[in-house]
Amino acid sequence: TWTTTNVVEESVAAIREQVGTKRAICGLSGGVDSAVAAALVQKAIGDQLTCVYVDHGLMRKGESEQVEKDFVAATGVQLKVVEAEERFLTALAGVSDPEEKRKIIGREFIRVFEQAQAELVAEAGAAGEAVEFLVQGTLYPDVVESGGGTGTANIKSHHNVGGLPDDIEFQLVEPLRRLFKDEVRMVGQELGLPDEIVHRQPFPGPGLGIRIVGEVTKERLDLLREADAIAREELTAAGLDRDIWQCPVVLLADVRSVGVQGDGRTYGHPIVLRPVSSEDAMTADWSRLPYDVLSRISTRITNEVDQVNRVVLDITSKPPGTIEWE
Ligand code: XMP
Repeated sequence: TWTTTNVVEESVAAIREQVGTKRAICGLSGGVDSAVAAALVQKAIGDQLTCVYVDHGLMRKGESEQVEKDFVAATGVQLKVVEAEERFLTALAGVSDPEEKRKIIGREFIRVFEQAQAELVAEAGAAGEAVEFLVQGTLYPDVVESGGGTGTANIKSHHNVGGLPDDIEFQLVEPLRRLFKDEVRMVGQELGLPDEIVHRQPFPGPGLGIRIVGEVTKERLDLLREADAIAREELTAAGLDRDIWQCPVVLLADVRSVGVQGDGRTYGHPIVLRPVSSEDAMTADWSRLPYDVLSRISTRITNEVDQVNRVVLDITSKPPGTIEWE
């Protein structure tokens, strides 16, 4: 029978068997999946695990600080932070195609992990155990939607499945590969992770890189970060965080429309709000948010975010739309 206790016990035994006395690294994204995967592996192999947080410049406002603070406080895990904004933005320069972006981000993640691996090995010296394993918080829906399930089309290359390069040197440890998100949350709870982590809304590994329709640049990321922070602030203030599954905020960087602000004409970009409700992200419906909340978000974004003169609401279910725009 399926109980979280059984899942935890079986996973811990399987991880010990797979990793043995070797060492592993785990990429933390700030999301619940990687946090729960890391906590499970830590339970299994303790200090043989080092978590790696890659600051790729595609995170939301305040997110890096949150990962560094919350997760380490909750678990006491060993954490290595890698600043990689320039590397990711250089690799993404000139690229607009969504799948290409996903593959580039997936590849750069692995390259950064390989570098972290080399540094850890060097730090441990000759007597240290090899770092052969990479822990990933891949869920069942990620596998299915990347085309890894049976009889399913390839919808998107999730950064940790279809987005991986072919020449990867790590062996993967993916303890959540058979679980859905709600099950992952239960496992996280069982492991004693705090509510702020267990109930965090999903956020994609490729981050804001797949929420800019068009080329990803630092300037566009900064705009989107501002708009996203406003939307999140207002949703939290309205007490809606637990009512919605997540609310991607998307910048249509290649679209411009005419507006009027103060006493002048503007020619700016639209921001899309994509609030959804869902059970497992495989299907979703658009959330019927209160009009006054939507109105506050719209007014604030157009007033406070430079170059944005329009806010639109995505009222598409999944299917036919996906949750993210790319
Ligand atoms: P879609 O857009 O496919 O998203 O309807 C389903 C859920 O998955 C999240 N998502 C990702 N999560 N790596 C992740 O860790 C990814 O590459 C990725 N792409 C989408 C998305 O936010 C939603 O919760």
